[in-house]
Amino acid sequence: MAERVCPVWVGYFLASPLRKLLQNPKKILGPYISAGTNVLDIGCAMGFFSLPLAEMVGPGGKVICIDVQEEMLASLQKRAQKARVSDNIEARVCSPDSLGLDGLSDHIDFALASAVVHEVPSAKSFFSEIYGAIKPGGRFLVVEPKGHVSQEDFEVTVSHADQAGFRVIDRPKVRRSRTVLLEK
Ligand SMILES: C[S@@+](CC[C@H](N)C(=O)[O-])C[C@H]1O[C@@H](n2cnc3c(N)ncnc32)[C@H](O)[C@@H]1O
Repeated sequence: MAERVCPVWVGYFLASPLRKLLQNPKKILGPYISAGTNVLDIGCAMGFFSLPLAEMVGPGGKVICIDVQEEMLASLQKRAQKARVSDNIEARVCSPDSLGLDGLSDHIDFALASAVVHEVPSAKSFFSEIYGAIKPGGRFLVVEPKGHVSQEDFEVTVSHADQAGFRVIDRPKVRRSRTVLLEK
């Protein structure tokens, strides 16, 4: 596993309800989600975004939560049960080099990667795997923390997305973050 992968103890802070004061998941993601949407939450950790997403998609939708650390997913599943949204969530552990999106070809309406791209070993294969899983016309929101990722590095990330085939359609505002909204 890459040295820079977020430690599990940080996962507890990232899932804190206090974070909603800065980054409100329903406000940030509301414009892209409706009942029945199929969502990928990549590098979901303990589910700060996945749980509200699961509420928003409802019983007709699904949030596929992918992370390289099993401990993050175990905590996410406990939280999902407590919040009574576990039926709308599928948790999948992946390897550092592959998200393991087999069987999801052209299936996903919306994908989120929040604070993840700077941790993956190859942004090139990351974007091309996600491109394959998203439906034509589907959206992908990439959010990176300003504190960890310079504007210059973020533009390199955007160029990897472009090379994978995505089109940049917006740069929505998320506090303390660099963002890009992509479309397949
Ligand atoms: C900084 S945390 C962000 C968590 C969450 N998205 C959020 O915004 O609260 C990054 C997460 O990405 C996961 N991660 C790191 N490398 C990964 C990879 N190659 N594939 C999938 N997940 C990865 C880490 O295990 C960690 O849970």
